[in-house]
Amino acid sequence: MTAPRKPILAGNWKMNHGPSQAARFFADFLNLAEPGDDRTIAFFPPAISFAAAREALQGRPDVRLGVQNVYWEESGAFTGELSVGMAKDAGAELVLVGHSERRHVFGETSEETARKVRAVLDAGLVPVLCVGETIDERRAERAEAVVAEQLAPVLEIVRADEVGELVIAYEPVWAIGTGVTATPDDARTMHAAVRERLRAAYGAEAADAVPILYGGSVKPDNAAELMSQPGVDGVLVGGASLDAAGFARIVKAAG
Ligand code: 13P
Repeated sequence: MTAPRKPILAGNWKMNHGPSQAARFFADFLNLAEPGDDRTIAFFPPAISFAAAREALQGRPDVRLGVQNVYWEESGAFTGELSVGMAKDAGAELVLVGHSERRHVFGETSEETARKVRAVLDAGLVPVLCVGETIDERRAERAEAVVAEQLAPVLEIVRADEVGELVIAYEPVWAIGTGVTATPDDARTMHAAVRERLRAAYGAEAADAVPILYGGSVKPDNAAELMSQPGVDGVLVGGASLDAAGFARIVKAAG
């Protein structure tokens, strides 16, 4: 039997918290969240706040850091981008890939997302691949099909022996930043659909090692219920991860 997946509590700060705010956040948060090895905590600060976050987290190896996006090339004339090698050099262990804002605000395609996943795996970092449908796609009963389409190019390039390095976040676009959360039933159904895709591609044992997180208006008050659903291995939190006390409550909700 596969070992139980440890809960992952991740905060995506998006374009919030510059370096001084990041330092203040961690001064508060680290007092509220005791070190523990029964769950993984991760933050994705803006790249410009990464060094401040890393400095603040000295002595807290239980709190991991990641970047919100990378480009797949190693270096060169790509103004505004960062490479995976640079993220690794700065101390990143994880990389968000294909976040809904990258796809829907910046026009990133699933093929580009797959290239990024490849680059992240090649560098030995953990890709946190985000997938999720829009409200129109859900109303058209295409939620599972859309998520399958987003997964397909990634599953094509990730080998069975490395899929255990992948984390997936199911983040329905209509639940992000809206205050509308997927019902526990919706989350459970969609997580099961993602798991099925993984099993079809890699077999049950390899597929069952992949944590699948839920994201979309997760708050201190709904985190425990969402995480109690079978197949929900943790949460990827936007707005509510900006507040140290609130995010510490979400961490506690993992049990
Ligand atoms: P909110 O928690 O603000 O809805 O954002 C979710 C998200 O996009 C995390 O990546």
